[in-house]
Amino acid sequence: MKIVSLFSGIGGFDLGFTQAGHQIIWANDIWKEATETYKKNLGNHIVCQDIKDIETSEIPNCDLIIGGFPCQGFSLANQKRNEQDERNFLYLEFVRILKDKKPPFFLAENVKGILSLGKGTVFQMIVNDFASIGYEVKYALLNAADYGVPQTRERVFIFGKRLDVKIEINFPPKPTHQKINENTLLARLQKWVGVGEALKNIPEPTEEHNLKNHEPSKYKLRFNGYIGHRVINPLLPCPTITSRGDEKGGVVVHHHPNNERRLSAREAAIIQSFPIDFEFVGAKTSVYRQVSNAVPPQLANAIAKLFPTNYENT
Ligand SMILES: C[S@@+](CC[C@H](N)C(=O)[O-])C[C@H]1O[C@@H](n2cnc3c(N)ncnc32)[C@H](O)[C@@H]1O
Repeated sequence: MKIVSLFSGIGGFDLGFTQAGHQIIWANDIWKEATETYKKNLGNHIVCQDIKDIETSEIPNCDLIIGGFPCQGFSLANQKRNEQDERNFLYLEFVRILKDKKPPFFLAENVKGILSLGKGTVFQMIVNDFASIGYEVKYALLNAADYGVPQTRERVFIFGKRLDVKIEINFPPKPTHQKINENTLLARLQKWVGVGEALKNIPEPTEEHNLKNHEPSKYKLRFNGYIGHRVINPLLPCPTITSRGDEKGGVVVHHHPNNERRLSAREAAIIQSFPIDFEFVGAKTSVYRQVSNAVPPQLANAIAKLFPTNYENT
C-alpha cells in the first residue's frame, strides 16, 4: 500500500509497515533531530514542519494514513493531564487531512490514558470525529509483549475503513505470544520474551564494542517503586520504555535487567524492537526520548501484515 505518515517521529510505526512490504510515500514531523534519524534509516521523504502549516494539497494521495498523534496531554504517566491541553487537539490535524484526502484506510496510535481521559468522553469524541467524515471505526488496546516485543507496552490503535470500501481487514491482529507462568493451564502461544533474553548478547557499554548509541548512562540506580526506579525482572518483558522527564531535565531510564546500571539508548531501542543497525541522531537525552516515543516496529509489523501490499486505490 502507499502510505502517508503523520507525526512520524523516528519512524517506528513506518518501519513496521516497510518491513511488511508497504511503501511510505510522504511523512512529517516537527522535531528536527527525529526527522534526521528518520532520514538516516528510512529515507528523505520526511518533511520537517509543523503539520498545522501544511496544506493538504502538499500531501500526496495514498491508500492509508498512519500516525501516532502527540500523547503527552493524554498520557497516564503525566499526572497533570487535562482535557484542555493544547497537544490533545493535534488529532484534529489528522482528521483534517483524512477528510481532504479520503484514503480507503487510516490507522492512529495513542497511549492507554486516552481511553479514560474525561471519563471516556474525550476518546468517544475522537472516535465520533473520525466516524463523522465517513469511516467505520474500530479500536483495540494492544500489548506489544503479545506480539513478541520484550516490553509490556500497551497502546490504543484506532483503525478506520472508508464506508464504501469492500475489502475486509481483520483488525486487530491475533497475538503470537502470551504470559506463561506456573499458574498457566493452557499455553497456546509462544511465551512472552524476557528482557534478559533480548539483551543477552549485548556487550557492556564500558567494554570494547562497535555498537552505535551504546554509551553508559551516568544516572544512578534508585529503588523507590516509581516508574524507572524499580527492580527489573530479566525473565519478564521490560515495563514501558517511557519518555517521562526526570527532575534534571533528562528522561527517566529503566534499570538494566542486571539491576546494576541503567539501560543504554541502544538497549532501550532493542527493547523497542528496533534493528541493531538502526542509527539515532542527536545527544543522548534526545535519543532516549526519540526511542521512547516510537511505536515498536515489531508491533507495527503485526498490524501492517493485515493490509494487502498490492492494494489498488480506485
Ligand atoms: C508519539 S510521537 C510519534 C512517534 C512515531 N509514531 C514513531 O513510531 O516513531 C509524536 C510525534 O508528533 C510530533 N509532533 C508534535 N507536534 C507536532 C506538530 N505540530 N506537527 C508535526 N509533528 C508534531 C512530535 O515531534 C513527535 O515526534
